[in-house]
Amino acid sequence: MKQLGLKIIQLDTVDSTNNFAANLLSMGELAHGTVIMADEQTKGRGQRGSKWVTQPAMNLTASFFVQYDNLAVSKQMMINQWISLVIIDMLKKHKISGKIKWPNDIFVNDQKIAGILIENQLSQNKVKSSIIGIGLNVNQVDFGDLNATSIKQHTQNFIPVNEILMQLIESLNRLLKFIIEEDVTRLKELYLLSLWKLNEEISCTVNGETTLVKILGTSDFGLLLMEIDGKEKEFDLKEIQFL
Ligand code: BTN
Repeated sequence: MKQLGLKIIQLDTVDSTNNFAANLLSMGELAHGTVIMADEQTKGRGQRGSKWVTQPAMNLTASFFVQYDNLAVSKQMMINQWISLVIIDMLKKHKISGKIKWPNDIFVNDQKIAGILIENQLSQNKVKSSIIGIGLNVNQVDFGDLNATSIKQHTQNFIPVNEILMQLIESLNRLLKFIIEEDVTRLKELYLLSLWKLNEEISCTVNGETTLVKILGTSDFGLLLMEIDGKEKEFDLKEIQFL
């Protein structure tokens, strides 16, 4: 698989970099490895229909297009694990210790620093490609009521967003070997090492009822494994809400 990030499209304003990528793809004009980055998104999208709102030009809002040679749909959780680890790896360069809050958030000390929105293009039982959207807080320091943080809040330094993009591309390419080699085992090992609240007791609302649970890991299909009432069970994001 060829390197990512050889072509970078820089936009001032766009509705959503993921939408922009999807439009190029539908016109057959999106090559593997292309990065689309915008200073400002007017309709930034988050998980489960939420909005992704950030101060213009202060943070990274970018989408990465990746085409796979032969990746089975049953292994698509590897993409999410790879990207989560890439962000953790990039943060380490700034001496920031990030944790993966299953399934799509990166946290630092219980505050969100990044969110991931992966949109896969499937055909038969293969993942043909992904549009991988990353929103990463870089220089914003005021988040109002949001429980969020940024690289600047941890380092006190202003860092040009382009520099962060280059570091992210470097990590993406370095960790791409896990996808190329389909190294499910190693990827999961590394993922668990960075999983938020692993083996800790936390409060969680499960199907509407608040209870104490312990996060044990993730299943082979990427569902969350938790201990609840002394039993191990798998959970989908729809079923649970962390408090
Ligand atoms: C989430 O935390 O819910 C995921 C947020 C993902 C935001 C990024 S910003 C770049 C890309 N374009 C979008 O519209 N969303 C993703």
